[in-house]
Amino acid sequence: MAVVTLTDKNDTLSDEESIRTCLKTYGIDYERWSPSYEVAADASPEDVLNAYAKEIDDLKTRGGYVTADVIDVTPETPGLNEMLAKFDREHWHDEDEVRFVIAGHGLFHIHADEGVVAIEVEAGDLIRVPKGTKHWFNLCGDRRIRAIRLFQDMSGWTPHYTESEVDRNYQPVCLGASYLPRSAVNL
Ligand SMILES: [Fe+2]
Repeated sequence: MAVVTLTDKNDTLSDEESIRTCLKTYGIDYERWSPSYEVAADASPEDVLNAYAKEIDDLKTRGGYVTADVIDVTPETPGLNEMLAKFDREHWHDEDEVRFVIAGHGLFHIHADEGVVAIEVEAGDLIRVPKGTKHWFNLCGDRRIRAIRLFQDMSGWTPHYTESEVDRNYQPVCLGASYLPRSAVNL
């Protein structure tokens, strides 16, 4: 289950219904998905996509997504720090950012008119960040995430940086996994 922190109110949510309702007000969709059959976290991408084919197809229909793939990030991923440094500054995309987490953790900060909300995701969590939404992303202490991604058009998934430096005001604190402060991650 995700953990949502309303940074302005210093409040934390960790039950599904509260999270879904709260994130809706920030324009973010949140769902919990279950596979149609048991699939290991390290199963092949084909197996993973197959196990969640119904959910993926439903979401494709609803959101106009045309492709789905599986991204795999581990502490050993070559160029990991450079890759993470692309996404830990406030940015937005011309494309929805859709992630369903299979393994590991991730921390999204969403900067909406209502304020900044932190969403820590783990296995079973689906998050949809609509195009144009200002956000940034960090890994947690396990430096691991495996996730299904859905795209309308992969060319739209380029970060546009706001250069606001708002992200500098928020530590990438993951509550469900041990975390490393920004300085220790050496990004
Ligand atoms: Fe992004």
